Amino acid sequence: MSVTKGHFIVFEGIDGSGKTTQINLLKKHIEENNFICHDTKEPTDGLVGSLLRQCLAGKAQTDEMTLAALFAADRLDHILNDKDGLLKKLEEGISVISDRYILSTYAYQSVRVPLKWVMDLNSMAVGKLRPDCHIFIDIDPDIALERIAKGRKSNELFENKKRLTEVRNRYFDLFKQFKDTENIIIINGTQNIEKIADDIWKNVSKYFIIEGGE
Ligand code: TMP
Repeated sequence: MSVTKGHFIVFEGIDGSGKTTQINLLKKHIEENNFICHDTKEPTDGLVGSLLRQCLAGKAQTDEMTLAALFAADRLDHILNDKDGLLKKLEEGISVISDRYILSTYAYQSVRVPLKWVMDLNSMAVGKLRPDCHIFIDIDPDIALERIAKGRKSNELFENKKRLTEVRNRYFDLFKQFKDTENIIIINGTQNIEKIADDIWKNVSKYFIIEGGE
C-alpha cells in the first residue's frame, strides 16, 4: 500500500518576524485536523547546523563565503539525513513545517556573496525538494529589532538594521524572480497573533482538509 506523501511548508522572514509563534499555532491546527506534523528548522541541530549557530552567535568566526557553503551543507543534511531527514519524513506521510529553507540563504547570503553562486551551491538541494509553499511573515526591521531587544535569543551576526533592511529588500526581489515557479505567500506580520494565524490557515488549509470528510 502506498503512503500519501506529507506536505512541506516553509516559514520565512527577517529575524524577529514571529515565525516561531506562528509555526507552533499552525502545527497545532494541522494536528487538530488529524495529520501528523513535524516541525524543524535551519540551521539544524546537526553537526553543521551547530557550527553555524556558533558563528551566528559570534562565538566562532568565519567569512561569508564559507558561511554560505556551510548553510548549503547543513541543508543537504537536513534533506537527506536517513535518521530524521525531510525526505524520510515526507515519504512516511508526515507533513513538515520548516523554520527557514532555500529563500533564507538566497536572501541573507546574497547580501555579501553573489546570488548566482549561492544558487549553484544549493542547486542539488532544490533538485531534491521544493516546498508546497513558502510563507513569508513581513515586518519592518525596526519592529523586528524592538522585539529582539525585548529578550528573544539573539543572533549577533545579522541582527542590525542595515543587514535586516537589505535582507528584506532581497526577499522582495526574490519574490518577483520566483513568482511563476514558487508558491510564495506574504503575510502582514504586524497584525495580532490570531489574525496572522488565520491568514496563514486560509492559505494552507487546502492541504489538510480530507476530501469527503465532515
Ligand atoms: P533564527 O533561528 O532565529 O531564524 O536565526 C537563524 C539565522 O540564520 C538568521 O539570522 C538567518 C540566518 N540564516 C542564513 O543567513 N542563511 C540560511 O540559509 C539560514 C537557514 C539562516
